[in-house]
Amino acid sequence: GKVAVLMGGRSGEREVSLMSGQGVLAALRARGVDAHAFDPAERPMDDLKREGFARCFIALHGRFGEDGTVQGALELLGIPYTGSGVMASSMAIDKVMTKRVWHAEGLPAPRHVLLRRGEFTAEEVDAIPGKLGLPLIVKPAREGSSLGVTKVKSTDQIQSAVAAAIALDTDVLCEQFIAGDEVTCPVLGEGAGATALPVIHIVAPDGEYDYQNKYFTDVTEYRVPCDLPAGEEAAVQALVVDAYRVLGCRGWGRVDVMIDGATRQPYLLEVNTSPGMTSHSLVPMAAKAAGTSYEDLCLELLANATL
Ligand code: DAL
Ligand code: MG
Repeated sequence: GKVAVLMGGRSGEREVSLMSGQGVLAALRARGVDAHAFDPAERPMDDLKREGFARCFIALHGRFGEDGTVQGALELLGIPYTGSGVMASSMAIDKVMTKRVWHAEGLPAPRHVLLRRGEFTAEEVDAIPGKLGLPLIVKPAREGSSLGVTKVKSTDQIQSAVAAAIALDTDVLCEQFIAGDEVTCPVLGEGAGATALPVIHIVAPDGEYDYQNKYFTDVTEYRVPCDLPAGEEAAVQALVVDAYRVLGCRGWGRVDVMIDGATRQPYLLEVNTSPGMTSHSLVPMAAKAAGTSYEDLCLELLANATL
């Protein structure tokens, strides 16, 4: 039947989603799927039902797409969709809620301080470097692609960093910075069947893997197969599968991790439940390293679409 590739949407990652969606759309069509673009920012979701779409490939990122809202609408419409369900999506979009679950399960994640819009003072913000050390990371709880993220290197930068993040979200996370290796690892499947793809080691100039370097430059180096010792890669893979499973994720996801350069302890940062599928994106890179083409990856994800 007809497949809708949901792309665009109304989050800050709209442009990224359009790139992901065009890639997925072309791949599915190349394999003979009757796929059509559908932008929920421009059209009511019940058009999907009226127009007879049998399944949806969700290529939306951020809020109103990756956060359980669209998943809930599709549940009501009875149309199977790719990726995680309502609860896992809504937990994973929120980096604070995610850490609460991981900490409760004994999984390692950097320490943080949560700031809620209208509920903190300038003095409390100034005190944060004393609690978390410097540098530290300030980020909106529910954004993606590094939007609104600042690496704070000195105390005089913290107020402006918090202001930039709180402009994008009511909840802001100040997080201990783990100096070391930045890695990411996709997970496919569900429950006991969840498996990790190869780990990618991300080496960005000056460690600045920001919005620009994620999508629009070619200065970031992606090492896959990665250059970590074999035991370390396997440990990261086991950790990300646990991290994904305790949130109840299904279909696919990509878990971002920092490995402490001194202790070699991996720390979980977040799960992306609707990862990028652009020409620069990481899940397709890891899949390719495992011998799966972009087209086959899209077909496999679609085949696992569910309610
Ligand atoms: N948030 C972007 C799309 C990613 O994680 O790939
Ligand atoms: Mg993210």
